[in-house]
Amino acid sequence: MNILVINGPNLNLLGTREPEIYGTDTLEELMMWLETSPSGADHSFKFFQSNHEGEIIDTLHDERHWAQGVLINPAAFTHYSYAIRDAISAVEIPTVEVHLSDLRKREEFRQISVISSVCVDQVSGFGKDSYLKGLNIMLKLIG
Ligand code: DQA
Repeated sequence: MNILVINGPNLNLLGTREPEIYGTDTLEELMMWLETSPSGADHSFKFFQSNHEGEIIDTLHDERHWAQGVLINPAAFTHYSYAIRDAISAVEIPTVEVHLSDLRKREEFRQISVISSVCVDQVSGFGKDSYLKGLNIMLKLIG
């Protein structure tokens, strides 16, 4: 399977960004861990991180014929980007939304996801395991 993994704004700072909330792994370490996990074996990955909404949308468009599944941590865009929501809906690729932290236990504004209604599932609150759980949900669906 071809899996596109998208990480949104500020996730490039993982490792040093609020480690008590987001952990101490860098984004590169986290993505490498996911790709080399037993679940990742035999699958092809593309990784994309951006702090810019339009670049995330462009990547979803550009990879729509390659990707068979999308894992996305839209970061703060989760809470207000109707444009990313529409892009996920438009490309019609099964998408799982993942978050390191538990959105339900954080500030009120984080408890709203405008993305989740176009995703097959949302996994939140398991640290880096959220990505692995998300990947497994995806593979069960499309594998
Ligand atoms: C996040 C949660 C978001 O609210 C926040 O803006 C992030 C990261 C998470 O992975 O827990 O940047 O998506």
